[in-house]
Amino acid sequence: MSIGEVPFRERIAVTGAGGRLGRALIEALATDDWDVLHWARVDYDLDDPTAAERLVARDRPDIVIHAAAWTDVDGCARDPDLAMRRNAVATGELAAACAERGAGLVVISTNEVFDGARTDRRGYREDDSPRPINPYGASKLAGEVAARATMGADRRLWIVRTAWLYGPPGNDFPTKILAASDRLAFHEPLRVVADEIGSPTFTRDLAAAIVGLLRAPANTYHLTNGGAASRAEWAERVLVRAGHNRPVSRIPQREYERLSRPPLWGVLDGRRANSVGIRLRPWDNALDDYLVGLTSAR
Ligand SMILES: NC(=O)c1ccc[n+]([C@@H]2O[C@H](COP(=O)([O-])OP(=O)(O)OC[C@H]3O[C@@H](n4cnc5c(N)ncnc54)[C@H](OP(=O)(O)O)[C@@H]3O)[C@@H](O)[C@H]2O)c1
Repeated sequence: MSIGEVPFRERIAVTGAGGRLGRALIEALATDDWDVLHWARVDYDLDDPTAAERLVARDRPDIVIHAAAWTDVDGCARDPDLAMRRNAVATGELAAACAERGAGLVVISTNEVFDGARTDRRGYREDDSPRPINPYGASKLAGEVAARATMGADRRLWIVRTAWLYGPPGNDFPTKILAASDRLAFHEPLRVVADEIGSPTFTRDLAAAIVGLLRAPANTYHLTNGGAASRAEWAERVLVRAGHNRPVSRIPQREYERLSRPPLWGVLDGRRANSVGIRLRPWDNALDDYLVGLTSAR
């Protein structure tokens, strides 16, 4: 670069900037390439139909990463209309604002758009037919559909489906497992679902991969850490690595009372991302890194 030349920095806005993935994205974007706009709930409220248009007009981002969502899966089952408002209609409004001003859009979606009923133990591909089995999954799929319909084929729209996120500031599956273990009596087993399979995914790894995808063609991509585990296997690894001598009692999903049923087989095939040079490390390596930080902070 010659003296006096001003480096071009794209303006990138992150919705849900206070959430797990939002925080990790802001960390991953903290390089010279980007001017990062933090759109936390106080500025960008999913319940406000004018918020997206107002913010996009005010801040003029080149790209918006839409990480905000109503992620309370059982809450979505209690109030499916509100889930649609927050996870679908708001995504359509944001897509319309981006389309209007020529901004790119990254929509974060979920493995819960699939029914999880496949039995061949292959991961879902991006072009497999979605069929959500709960209101959260239905609302996230409707968000994808609204974004595609609004942005059109020639626009910059990345849809990133992921699964089983954990990461700072916690309140995630690993921290809940450790808290549940702390509440149990000595050697009492912790009951964990064993027939729900997915890929635990560290938000820091996912955020770095999403930033990498911004240089790849706009498309739908599946991004999770590598490999797969049951909830029970995930819990066992958390407990062992955190030094808890706690047995896990494996139970079927039907014995775990909750309002909403997640897909049993929630594994995503990441080959499309691999083909553009993006591959996340195996889930257990990523989890070990997270737990080192977590247990030293406890
Ligand atoms: N968590 C998972 O296992 C998982 C799996 C697959 C896909 N995803 C998707 O990944 C994305 C990020 O999830 P995450 O794990 O980072 O979730 P998270 O920690 O719950 O963060 C969600 C963010 O959305 C914001 N939000 C919630 N309701 C809002 C509202 N009414 N108005 C404005 N903002 C609102 C939250 O704001 P506050 O910070 O103010 O609460 C938070 O910043 C979401 O699109 C989610 O659907 C998550």
